[in-house]
Amino acid sequence: MALVLGSAILLLSSGVSAVGHIFPDCRAGPLATNDVCNKGLTKNFGLLVSTSPGVERLQLPSYEWWQEALHGVATSVGVSFADTGDFSYATSFPQPILMGAAFDDELIEAVATVVSTEARAFNNFNRSGLDYWTPNINAYKDPRWGRGQETPGEDPYHLSSYVTALVKGLQGGEDPDILKVVATCKHFTAYDIEDWLGNERYEFDAKVSPQELAEYYMPPFEACARSNVGSFMCSYNALNGVPTCSSSYLLQDILRDHWNWTRDYQYVVSDCDALQNVYKPHNWRDTREASAASSLLAGTDLDCGFYYQLHLPTAYEQGLIDDDTLDLAITRLYGALIKLGYFDAAETNPYRSLGFSNVSTPYAEDLARKAAEEGIVLIKNDGTLPLQFPPDGNVTVTLIGDWANATKDMQGNYEGIAKYLHSPYYAASQIPGVNAVYAGLPGDPTTDGYPRVLEAASAADIILYIDGPTVASEAESKDRTLIRWSGEKIDIMTQLADLGKPFILIQMGGQRDDAPFLDDPNVSAIMWGGYPGQAGGDAIMNILTGKVAPAGRLPVTQYPAHYVDDVPMTDMGLRPNEETGNPGRTYIWYDQATVPFGFGLHYTNFSASVAVEESGDNDCSCYNIADLTAACSATPQISQCPFQTVPVTVSNTGATTSDFVVLGFLAGEHGPEPYPIKRLVSYRRLHDITADEDQTANLTLTLGSLGRRDEGGNSVLYPGKYSLLVDVPTQATWNFTLEGEPFVLDEWPQDTGA
Ligand SMILES: *[C@@H]1O[C@H](CO)[C@@H](O)[C@H](O)[C@H]1NC(C)=O
Ligand SMILES: *[C@@H]1O[C@H](CO)[C@@H](O)[C@H](O)[C@H]1NC(C)=O
Ligand SMILES: *[C@@H]1O[C@H](CO)[C@@H](O)[C@H](O)[C@H]1NC(C)=O
Ligand SMILES: *[C@@H]1O[C@H](CO)[C@@H](O)[C@H](O)[C@H]1NC(C)=O
Ligand SMILES: *[C@@H]1O[C@H](CO)[C@@H](O)[C@H](O)[C@H]1NC(C)=O
Ligand SMILES: *[C@@H]1O[C@H](CO)[C@@H](O)[C@H](O)[C@H]1NC(C)=O
Ligand SMILES: *[C@@H]1O[C@H](CO)[C@@H](O)[C@H](O)[C@H]1NC(C)=O
Ligand SMILES: *[C@@H]1O[C@H](CO)[C@@H](O)[C@H](O)[C@H]1NC(C)=O
Ligand SMILES: *[C@@H]1O[C@H](CO)[C@@H](O)[C@H](O)[C@H]1NC(C)=O
Repeated sequence: MALVLGSAILLLSSGVSAVGHIFPDCRAGPLATNDVCNKGLTKNFGLLVSTSPGVERLQLPSYEWWQEALHGVATSVGVSFADTGDFSYATSFPQPILMGAAFDDELIEAVATVVSTEARAFNNFNRSGLDYWTPNINAYKDPRWGRGQETPGEDPYHLSSYVTALVKGLQGGEDPDILKVVATCKHFTAYDIEDWLGNERYEFDAKVSPQELAEYYMPPFEACARSNVGSFMCSYNALNGVPTCSSSYLLQDILRDHWNWTRDYQYVVSDCDALQNVYKPHNWRDTREASAASSLLAGTDLDCGFYYQLHLPTAYEQGLIDDDTLDLAITRLYGALIKLGYFDAAETNPYRSLGFSNVSTPYAEDLARKAAEEGIVLIKNDGTLPLQFPPDGNVTVTLIGDWANATKDMQGNYEGIAKYLHSPYYAASQIPGVNAVYAGLPGDPTTDGYPRVLEAASAADIILYIDGPTVASEAESKDRTLIRWSGEKIDIMTQLADLGKPFILIQMGGQRDDAPFLDDPNVSAIMWGGYPGQAGGDAIMNILTGKVAPAGRLPVTQYPAHYVDDVPMTDMGLRPNEETGNPGRTYIWYDQATVPFGFGLHYTNFSASVAVEESGDNDCSCYNIADLTAACSATPQISQCPFQTVPVTVSNTGATTSDFVVLGFLAGEHGPEPYPIKRLVSYRRLHDITADEDQTANLTLTLGSLGRRDEGGNSVLYPGKYSLLVDVPTQATWNFTLEGEPFVLDEWPQDTGA
């Protein structure tokens, strides 16, 4: 089969794997005079939009590029669930914000592997394409952001490590020549606003310094590029005056040139209708044609929308774009389909045999529950948890609150259709010895009072208050303006807590300022459960009853309620700034948290210690910068060069078997900051540490872990004193010293305004 696409041709023999394919040269050699390279062929502008009509003359089928799978194959333009029976559901995992709290990259790869297996099964039965516009890997830096639930949290190292595992699971590692699906890292970049007090994402111009761009907004995207993710999505906003989809600084200088994201199948897609936004409201060019051309020229290959189809033909006639530019985009897009094996015969493709028997398998269902269990964070416990229920007893557990019987809410957004949705009430009803009572919504004390809920609670032995946001209050297209508990809820909960019974607050969705309950001795325990997916209720009950021990850690800072008044969402600055009054953002630059990033309690006690083997005369733990870098001269990316493996020994000194997340932060007096800061540089989750047992986690540090971004964005190794701090709060430290001259590890490309 010969595909003639504009003037680009891809020669493929039907039934023959496209592995090792070569794109024929239409400019030189024998094909230059062949008809298939005829420049006069109609330009197929429709191939550059997400709902591609294909090219009938060439028997190139229509193709829908838009599929979603944020936490399982999801309802989206290109995914079609059956009404009943086979393919009427897919496994629905927790939202990334909860999976991020597990700090378990092996778990993430396993989840992503299931998602891509199910996606392939859907594709084999013509129920989806192979290009997925997931993950959302913008760092969740402001607690108001409506899409924070879609991300694994606020820390750039955490997100980088998470997304590396995720992309591997989605795109498949078994056969490097065939992609399982194409994953898309979005939204590139500094996209942090939905609609905050009338500041809309479509017009927002994010002002970011080179230093904070390089150190905070970019690392997750660099990790995507280095993981060979198939696609990137440019965002709605502008960055320092340039709409990201028309920024050759972002799409060429950084993404393709600096990060070496240059394979012939890697493409950039615009966010949906973002190319319209480049023209209006961003006013980037005077005409629609020039605007569309600017995006294509900058390196946006595919348009989610119709803007390219509508305006590129005129742009072409006006000479704003040429054949080479069109060919490049079409080559990348069809290169991706070739790499996916889209044109291959079934027998040559390892994923073509997957079918409905591979969807929602018992393994996948267990994994969905386990992922929720691993992420749930215990924030407070006076010893009430775990709850004990003698199987032959009859303990009345009363469930109150907006999410006490939540089903779909537990999935969060970008969800699919789950086979089942086990609510907390359902799961409580399954526990032998428990008389589960659903007491309904709390009511509104300003109008109807709440004697009914109080009455139900008065008959309870244990009260579970399960609160979560309404769909409209925490979502895409909308930011929060408040992160406090409402007066009404505090009033109700306090009355319930004061009944003198075990009162457990299970906080779902995003973070709120729990200060009113943390210090209240009548609140026995607080647990955060995010958006736990199809088995959310089962996971919550397994943690409450101690069937599974909690070990999740907060992947974000829990801010005090007044934080929303301290800094506008439009302020992209991360460092405290006396001039603007910005108090600083994230645990890295803000230390007044209600509950800090990385916090999480257990049902047992752990002690952690560090013992680095010092080699030879290195008993002061001193390292010479020139020696360290000279030893890495053969590594293409010096930042990836190993520095030191730090063994952290964790002992379970209590009585309960439990996981433990080892978090390693780097702090010290060195580099460009006028004050000491700490940031996460390594983590590892240890599993099933039994009572009186030790396990050792090796934290791996690279030279990049030690590098700090200077004002120009360069990553620099600075001489000075460093401390590796283990756990939150710190339980163990390892101190070391770097000596010698500063060394630039990564020279950051400067924005010349192009
Ligand atoms: C999917 O569509 C293709 C092309 O139309 C067809 O050959 C194939 O039989 C379909 N497969 C299924 C499982 O319906
Ligand atoms: C860039 O990527 C290519 C593969 O596409 C690889 O061969 C090359 O080593 C990479 N270069 C660097 C500097 O990482
Ligand atoms: C898919 O299902 C088949 C039949 O149950 C099984 O043999 C195969 O191992 C499964 N493959 C994967 C990747 O799960
Ligand atoms: C458990 O106690 C409740 C409330 O007292 C009662 O209604 C119910 O019948 C009891 N169930 C069993 C199995 O004893
Ligand atoms: C709980 O939710 C399920 C699913 O929406 C519904 O069928 C059931 O009636 C609800 N139970 C109560 C007690 O409201
Ligand atoms: C806790 O509840 C008791 C009643 O059971 C009440 O007397 C007390 O004031 C409450 N404590 C707080 C701190 O609210
Ligand atoms: C942890 O240790 C403290 C103090 O040593 C002790 O009071 C507490 O009971 C222990 N907790 C658990 C869960 O073992
Ligand atoms: C940790 O590193 C040490 C020394 O490099 C090695 O012997 C050990 O096997 C490693 N442990 C794990 C769990 O990887
Ligand atoms: C590490 O250095 C810090 C700060 O200089 C110091 O407070 C701490 O005691 C040192 N820890 C160890 C284990 O030497």
